[in-house]
Amino acid sequence: MEDKELVTAALDARKRSYSPYSHFAVGAALLTNDGNVFTGCNIENSAYSPSICAERVAFSKAVSEGYREFTKIVIAGGPADAETLEYCPPCGVCRQVMSEFCDRDFEVILAKSADQYETHTLGGLLPLSFSL
Ligand code: THU
Repeated sequence: MEDKELVTAALDARKRSYSPYSHFAVGAALLTNDGNVFTGCNIENSAYSPSICAERVAFSKAVSEGYREFTKIVIAGGPADAETLEYCPPCGVCRQVMSEFCDRDFEVILAKSADQYETHTLGGLLPLSFSL
């Protein structure tokens, strides 16, 4: 799968964000090693702490369907009413969840639009990660 296709999937998932409290909409598209795509959006809650990030929705969907090997994720986020996005790096909790299943070379692609995106690695975003 081309990166651009995965970027489009993340931008589409962002449209399904449920974020009435922060008004910050995030979409993610996670690619498995065998070419399957799992998308996610952030889902907020009036009690706040039950809210979950787009990336962890995508990982939860994938792992609960039996997929544990991943090559990359695209993340696109920004104010819900804005078309033009800034890069939205994953929060620390999501980086830790990625590190549970992914190696240092796992690609984290931050997207502003279908044509503007940049690629990072999990190792670069989370050096000295914790594991047991
Ligand atoms: N959010 C994500 O979905 N992913 C991140 O990595 C950063 C933050 C969500 C959580 C919350 O619903 C909103 O963005 C504002 O923090």
